[in-house]
Amino acid sequence: MIRALSAKFITSSPSIKEAPSFVTSEVVFLGRSNVGKSSLINALVNQKNLAKSSSTPGKTQLINFFEAEFCEEKEDSEKEKFKLILVDLPGFGYAKVAKSKHDEWRKNLDEFLKFRSDIRLFIHLIDARHFDLDIDVNVDSYLKSFLRADQKILNLYTKSDKLNQSQKSAIMKFDPSGILVSTLSKSGIDKAREAIINHALGR
Ligand code: GTP
Ligand code: MG
Repeated sequence: MIRALSAKFITSSPSIKEAPSFVTSEVVFLGRSNVGKSSLINALVNQKNLAKSSSTPGKTQLINFFEAEFCEEKEDSEKEKFKLILVDLPGFGYAKVAKSKHDEWRKNLDEFLKFRSDIRLFIHLIDARHFDLDIDVNVDSYLKSFLRADQKILNLYTKSDKLNQSQKSAIMKFDPSGILVSTLSKSGIDKAREAIINHALGR
């Protein structure tokens, strides 16, 4: 069992140029605007409002860095602590900003995802109600086009509280390595936390 010990906001940067290096493994949260990235970060670290979430799409507009500390309690009651940087990103597909602003976000996001050296894990959040949208298929091939040997992708299907059992089964059939999560019911959060830490630490 892995528990969240503490988490704090470190800084926000508009692009990779301004982002300091933390010499710590980084986990990035990406997905369509409003899919639940900021809410999931809060659930993973057991805090209500660390990453700002909102029902209005386009809430997160900068690259936000959080430092989180986790603790794994082993069977022999030995404890091991880990630090990770969680990176909350602006959502893609958000149209209600000026085109010039949108193009600038896109370029900043693209450079960050491709060239940020400490990224160990890409968390791709997908709305469980619309799990096979073209935009998400494209994101997956986009990430795979530059994925390094020391990096992984984890698919999390969000807002699973809105699904019935047969819809959940359809997702698990579509993507057996994906994890269904709900920040509302807290279902899947412990499992996601465990998978994120194991992947990020290359275990
Ligand atoms: P941007 O920053 O705009 O890209 O959005 P985001 O992906 O960070 O989404 P955010 O966490 O702000 O959540 C968007 C909306 O979805 C909010 O109204 C949340 O309350 C809601 N939401 C998030 N997670 C869940 C969930 O598990 N279940 C349900 N029903 N709603 C959720
Ligand atoms: Mg957000």
